[in-house]
Amino acid sequence: MKHFIDINNFKKTEIDEIIALAKKIKKNPKKYSSSCKNKTLGLIFEKQSLRTRLSFNVGMQKLGGSVLELQGKDIGFDNKREKAEDVLNVLSQYIDFLMIRNDNHKQIVNLSKENILPIINGLTEYSHPCQILGDFLTLQENFKNYKNLIIVWIGDYNNVLRSLIHLQNIYKFKLNIVVPHQIFKHHKSEFLKFKNKNLKHLVDPIEGAKKSNCIMTDVWVSMGEKNNKIKYFKNFTVNKKIMSIASNNAIFMHCLPAKRGKEVTSDVLDGKNSVVLQQAKNRMYIQQAILLYVLKK
Ligand code: CP
Ligand code: NVA
Repeated sequence: MKHFIDINNFKKTEIDEIIALAKKIKKNPKKYSSSCKNKTLGLIFEKQSLRTRLSFNVGMQKLGGSVLELQGKDIGFDNKREKAEDVLNVLSQYIDFLMIRNDNHKQIVNLSKENILPIINGLTEYSHPCQILGDFLTLQENFKNYKNLIIVWIGDYNNVLRSLIHLQNIYKFKLNIVVPHQIFKHHKSEFLKFKNKNLKHLVDPIEGAKKSNCIMTDVWVSMGEKNNKIKYFKNFTVNKKIMSIASNNAIFMHCLPAKRGKEVTSDVLDGKNSVVLQQAKNRMYIQQAILLYVLKK
C-alpha cells in the first residue's frame, strides 16, 4: 500500500513520476476527469486550512471522485472512544484514502505503518510535503533548468523548510537556509544529518540573498507554536532591498498564509516577482497526481 508522508521516503524516480503526472493533469485536465470515479477521499483537519482544504476538495471533484470532510472529534479520532487504528479500519470500509492535517507527525507515521488505508500528510508540525512538491512544480515552470538554481530560505526552521530540505537531499540543488542562530541551534543535529555541499546554513539574510534565483519564506510562528520566537527575526523581513540583492529574475515564494510586514513586505508579496498564487494553484495539480499515485497498485 502506498502512502504520502514525507518526501524523503521517496526515490528520485518516484518524485519525477509525480511531478510529470501533475504537469500532464494541468495541461490536459479533461483526460483525467474520471480517474477517481467511485473513489472517496476523507479529509481530517485538526488545524486551520484554506489552500489544502480547497485544493484537495476541488482537485478530487475534477478527477470525478468525491470528498468527505471528517471532524476528528466527531468521529472519535482522538483515541478516546476507540483506538485511531480501529477508526481507520472502519473508514477503510467506506473510503479509499485519507488526508490528515494534525500536530502529531508520529501518529500519521504509525497509522501509515498499519497499511489500512493510504494516508496523505496534509501538514504536520514536522513537515508539509504536498506544499513542497507543489513548489517544485512551480520552480520547474519558472526555470528551465532548476538544477543550477540557488534557492534561499529566509525564516524559521519549520515544517515547510524540513520538506524543502528533504527535496534538496534528493535533487541536490543549491539551498542556503538563513535561520537565526537562536533557532537553528535547536535543529543543528537534525540539519547535520541532511547536510551536503549544496546545502548550507547562514545567519545573514543579505549574504544569503546574493545571486539567488528564488527567495522563499514562511510565517515566523507556525500554527500551534508559541509567539516568543519573533524577537530573533530582526532583519529577516523579505523586502525590496533583499530582493534587489538576488539575481535579476529571482522569484519570491511563500506557501501562504502570510503575515504582511513580518516575514515579507506587501510590495514583495504582491510584486511582479512573486509567484505565490501560482504556488497555491499548483497545490491542486500536485495533489491530484499524489492521489493517483497512491491509488496505483
Ligand atoms: N499553504 C497551505 O498549506 O495553506 P493552508 O494552511 O491554508 O492549507
Ligand atoms: N509553517 C506554517 C505553514 C502553513 C501552511 C504552519 O505550520 O502554520
